Amino acid sequence: MSRIACVVGARPNHMKIKPIMDALEKRGAETILVHTGQHYDRAMNDVFFEDLGIRRPDRHLEIGSGTHAEQTARTMLAFEPVFLELRPDIVVVVGDVNSTLSCALVAAKGGALVAHVEAGLRSGDRSMPEELNRVAVDRVSDVLLVASADGMANLRAEGYRRDQTYLVGNVMVDTLMANLDRARTRPILSELGLSRRKFGLVTLHRPGNVDDEQVLTSLLAALDEVGRKLPLVFPVHPRTRARLRGRTPAGVLLMDPLGYLDFVALEDSAAIVLTDSGGVQAETTALGVPCLTLRRNTEWPVTTVEGTNWLVGCDPKRIVRAASEFLEKPPRSTMPELWDGRSRERIADVLLSVATSSDRPRPTDHYRTDQDV
Ligand code: UD1
Ligand code: UDP
Repeated sequence: MSRIACVVGARPNHMKIKPIMDALEKRGAETILVHTGQHYDRAMNDVFFEDLGIRRPDRHLEIGSGTHAEQTARTMLAFEPVFLELRPDIVVVVGDVNSTLSCALVAAKGGALVAHVEAGLRSGDRSMPEELNRVAVDRVSDVLLVASADGMANLRAEGYRRDQTYLVGNVMVDTLMANLDRARTRPILSELGLSRRKFGLVTLHRPGNVDDEQVLTSLLAALDEVGRKLPLVFPVHPRTRARLRGRTPAGVLLMDPLGYLDFVALEDSAAIVLTDSGGVQAETTALGVPCLTLRRNTEWPVTTVEGTNWLVGCDPKRIVRAASEFLEKPPRSTMPELWDGRSRERIADVLLSVATSSDRPRPTDHYRTDQDV
């Protein structure tokens, strides 16, 4: 039987790991859930375990916040002894947060197979810490589980071998589909006095947007103007809360971060979503809800081509104009390939076949040969 360690640390990891663990356990694999503790507030962490029915982590590393080097190094130091004690065959890491990078490095150096879920995503913007994490995690991973065709193309262009890369679809969509009916029964809309398609939903937490005072001020100006025409609900990430310093744009309801079910209930009913989140761009495409991404680039280009996402940048005039256009004429969308709620099965199939294969990838196999090109 294969022993598979599954790593979570920050908010966007939980909705990705849950379906993967379920599918692995259904097939009889032994799973170990390791939580690094990168996010720890109830609203950023516990509520996801409750909403999604994730079991208590088997190991909790309690690393908390810090600079990038502190957080990454502390996680490596804390994960290494756990890894050496448990000796998993495979370590599954998801997404692009610092916990993903630290645990992938420890596992790769420790000789386990590293499987990266959401491999191949690229924004092309190396000023984003996540982009550096994506590139580095993919490089040390043995099994690259990819959410969209553009991710496969990115990996091919970077020289990855075909037998390392698997198009499995977007596992966040599995969780979204599995929980949408439950989310729709939540009373959050009536509690907030909102009606379906008569409000907008906002999330902002990218350092490039909220840690830069000039950028944040122009984004708040844009929200102020959109909020005068359409009420906006803004669950505020702790990074952003610290930067707002009490400012509240007109027509914007600020609140603490929401649990998964309440957030999805709002996302599903919103007339428009304004965000800089990666996961929210993907979820709005899956829900067919118009999304303005307040960034200059995206690691989810498929959502702008096939989905409902419009990359509008941070200029307030452009944001306000785009919001009016999208509200007047909502975009049409199609569901990207394999965003069908069954990614967990494909991921579990790959992981278990790789774990038991006699020609499983070895650390010496990482360079492609001429036949692979
Ligand atoms: C992290 C990820 C980002 C992801 C985001 C999801 C990295 C480099 N960044 O960004 O990719 O999109 O999570 O939400 O891994 N804080 C709290 N309570 C918490 C957690 C954080 O108050 O439970 C505050 C702390 O002041 C902390 C700050 O938020 O310093 C930032 O947290 P951190 O995990 O370093 O980065 P995020 O901005 O959350
Ligand atoms: N989310 C949530 N509550 C919130 C904001 C986001 O449950 O208040 C969920 C959202 O539905 C998605 C995930 O968190 O599943 C996205 O995480 P986040 O935006 O923090 O990170 P990113 O995807 O940008 O890395």
